Amino acid sequence: MYRKKSSNISVIGLGKLGLCTAACLAYGGYQVIGMDIREDHVKKLRQGTPPFFEPNLSELLLTTEKNLSFTNDVHEAVKKTDISFIIVPTPSKKNGEFSNKYIKEVLMNIAPLIKEKESFHLINIVSTVMPGSCENDFLPLIEKLSGKKIGVEIGLTYNPEFIAIGSVINDFLNPDLVLIGESDEKSGDIVQKIYIDTCQNTPHIARTNFINAEITKLALNCYCTMKISFANNLSALCDRIDKANACTICNILGLDSRIGEKYIKPGLGFGGPCFPRDNQAFISFIESLEGYSGLQRAVIHINNDQPKRAIQRISDAIEEYGGDVAVLGLSYKPGTYLTEQSQALEIVRTIADKDEVEKLRVYDPLAKEEGVWQLCSSVEECVQGANIVAILTPWEEFYTSDWRNLLSDKATVLDFWRQDSKNES
Ligand SMILES: NC(=O)c1ccc[n+]([C@@H]2O[C@H](COP(=O)([O-])OP(=O)(O)OC[C@H]3O[C@@H](n4cnc5c(N)ncnc54)[C@H](O)[C@@H]3O)[C@@H](O)[C@H]2O)c1
Repeated sequence: MYRKKSSNISVIGLGKLGLCTAACLAYGGYQVIGMDIREDHVKKLRQGTPPFFEPNLSELLLTTEKNLSFTNDVHEAVKKTDISFIIVPTPSKKNGEFSNKYIKEVLMNIAPLIKEKESFHLINIVSTVMPGSCENDFLPLIEKLSGKKIGVEIGLTYNPEFIAIGSVINDFLNPDLVLIGESDEKSGDIVQKIYIDTCQNTPHIARTNFINAEITKLALNCYCTMKISFANNLSALCDRIDKANACTICNILGLDSRIGEKYIKPGLGFGGPCFPRDNQAFISFIESLEGYSGLQRAVIHINNDQPKRAIQRISDAIEEYGGDVAVLGLSYKPGTYLTEQSQALEIVRTIADKDEVEKLRVYDPLAKEEGVWQLCSSVEECVQGANIVAILTPWEEFYTSDWRNLLSDKATVLDFWRQDSKNES
């Protein structure tokens, strides 16, 4: 695997996406320098310890250590490499737009360094940005500070990722799609080659201009959330209809290739650090051009209703079965410790406030958020003695271990992700 590649790559920003990207590029045979401003982060990485959990990351860091080094020094990172991937935060502003503040900070640091280089240097922006950012914000800034012409002496590409937390490495190495917005053909070719060298599959590679790539990134994520909300809206409807089951209907819908099976599944909706804010950014972008944002607003409205529906079901169950409640799942999705915008956490916090709840125990394999509940260290400890067990995050473990035989006959299980139990006959 470790064929030496002719280009060296720096990855600037070693967070949830950047560190995994650096490890995957090193796995593809590139010499990679990972750079981050956080000293503790880089120190841990130099000692071989990943600063956060992501499946397969620690193993990959171990197997790629010959190809991967870490630094806090942006000079070293840029001078010793030919291509810089920029993967720093683009936090949401109050109006939903992403801020380019951190990307611009990086560009202001690296453009003067590129000025001194004699060879062609490519800047590849991976962070999610607002449409128009590359052309209007980054390109003039880089040209001004480097004194070099983009597309001639240096290159600029926008190459957003479609990975999901909890499967970042697998998604990076086996993408459906690689999206490249490019300043010029040579720059696009360089990025395309990196993915051909690194991916384990043969992905579609879509190359276009900056604005198309920027809109595509947001549109793709918003389309996925539209499917999720469509399924959940159907589920709310089926709740009111005897013998109708939204899971069955969605499984059938997914068989049609015009729809496809992914994301068309009732559950608690979407959360996490990307989907909710990508929708807000897309709304903000549409409204800035006086376009129609009603579709995206409906997606968010339906998503916000899911915790409310779940809380109502749990409240009804408490009335019927009693107030000893066990909750399985806190993270916003399986495979991660993250609880950012987690529907599960929102539900737990609300039911913890209810007077009818006598005992509340919570278990999640990775997320350890504290609150007015007892955090358990196993499923078995959590469900023992409960009247109600609510599955709020669909971790595989909740479906493979034998905890159900610990429940009394008077207990009930509310599974908000696999609602196949409704009697259809
Ligand atoms: N995490 C995801 O699932 C995901 C998926 C697709 C796109 N993205 C996008 O990727 C970008 C980064 O996301 P993330 O989740 O990796 O963020 P993160 O907060 O986990 O990591 C960002 C890293 O950048 C570092 N950093 C900040 N300023 C820096 C600078 N000037 N120089 C060097 N390092 C700097 C931070 O210290 C941090 O380690 C965002 O735009 C996000 O929207 C993330």
